Amino acid sequence: MPAMSFPKDFAWGVATSSYQIEGATETDGKGPSVWDSFCRKPGAIRGGHDGRTACEHYQRYAEDVALMRQIGVRAYRFSVCWPRILPAGVGQVNQAGIDFYDRLVDALLEAGVTPYVTLFHWEYPLALYRRGGWLNPDSSDWFADYAGTVVRALSDRVKHWITLNEVQVFIVGGHYQGWHAPGDQHRFGEMLRAGHHALLAHGKAVQAIRANAQGESRVGYAPVGQVKYPVSNRSEDVDAARQAMFATEANQGWTNAWWMDPVMLGEYPASGLEVFGTDAPVPKPGDMKIIGEPIDFFGVNIYQGEQVRAGDDGRPEIVPHPVGCPMTGFNWPVTPEALYWGSRFFYERYQRRIIITENGLSCRDWISLDGRVHDPQRIDFAARYLRELHRAMQEGVPVDGYFHWSLMDNFEWAEGYLQRFGLIYVDFDTQARVLKDSAYWYRDVISTNGAKALADPGEAVS
Ligand code: GCO
Repeated sequence: MPAMSFPKDFAWGVATSSYQIEGATETDGKGPSVWDSFCRKPGAIRGGHDGRTACEHYQRYAEDVALMRQIGVRAYRFSVCWPRILPAGVGQVNQAGIDFYDRLVDALLEAGVTPYVTLFHWEYPLALYRRGGWLNPDSSDWFADYAGTVVRALSDRVKHWITLNEVQVFIVGGHYQGWHAPGDQHRFGEMLRAGHHALLAHGKAVQAIRANAQGESRVGYAPVGQVKYPVSNRSEDVDAARQAMFATEANQGWTNAWWMDPVMLGEYPASGLEVFGTDAPVPKPGDMKIIGEPIDFFGVNIYQGEQVRAGDDGRPEIVPHPVGCPMTGFNWPVTPEALYWGSRFFYERYQRRIIITENGLSCRDWISLDGRVHDPQRIDFAARYLRELHRAMQEGVPVDGYFHWSLMDNFEWAEGYLQRFGLIYVDFDTQARVLKDSAYWYRDVISTNGAKALADPGEAVS
């Protein structure tokens, strides 16, 4: 790989998800999802917002694909809304739903953009939730059937598939902590049982993709990567960070290893089984083999990391970020090292090619008097994170793509429309789209195959 660019066929992408952009939640036969109902719960979403209109992408997809073409993105990660395809989650297929994704895929290919399809970005069908949702042992079969339906419809053109997005968020956040849909607060062990069914759903979906795909397919997973990185390059600190990154603690659902080891290594981490004790699910014979069905790439969403050092007894200690450290609009610390250490530690442990399926930040962007949207912080953030990713790649970590979250400002879950993550500004009253400065910058990053992000700021890159 040339020192000042990325590999030739690197997937320079942008990412979105269905509920966050599509709107049209009751259009053309779509069934309700747990997000449609969660948004109606008083106090659940900042400002009482919801995804009913969002970016009207369902109607404006052609315009949005044209904007992608203008930026020159090579790949687009979007999700399919399960109850748009199967309004009741199982049974009757809604052809109008399939037709929408059909048109979208055609438009992408026509624009030279490779589609990466996520099968589940949290829109669990309400009808199936009423039958127990992820707690119902049948849920993995329901999901695999749905996956097969989508794959039969799109795999003549779609080759890249992602099963579940961020299992930690919808299982721990949605079934234990209650701040995400469906908003349940089950006991810890119940939550882990729902999680086991979700992991099984992943494994069965991998099988369903391979069984139904027309031609080649590449299948991945996209958990949240919670990165711990060392405060220094001393080997004690590096070891401490690695240990912290894959540790499991009692009653702590937010871990990497619990949600990744089963998929990547075919087993729950021994430390997790020990600390969770009788709360740990009891897999049925054959479950772990299905969950561990080999996948083609390890997709991971990385936004931030925590610093770790080896304490006096050698055990990992979190080192708080300094007072006044750089923060995004969401108050997430800006920690570019997370992309270097994250990809490095995940590769070390899982030995699978990596795709950064999400990385980005929210800023308080607005349209300036000159009619443009100036977001220097997004440019600086992405450049810093890409440099760290490139550093890991230079050291031999195989990374096949980077998907910026997000293509455009959208519905940020419990935060409503407050957090703007887009390269494209969206005026939610008029639905006007304005390319931010970062979108033009990213266009140059892509056309120089990364050199623009690696060059010194201000340096001309041809
Ligand atoms: C997630 C989701 C995205 C978010 C993004 C910013 O990571 O939570 O995949 O839907 O919008 O991460 O929070």
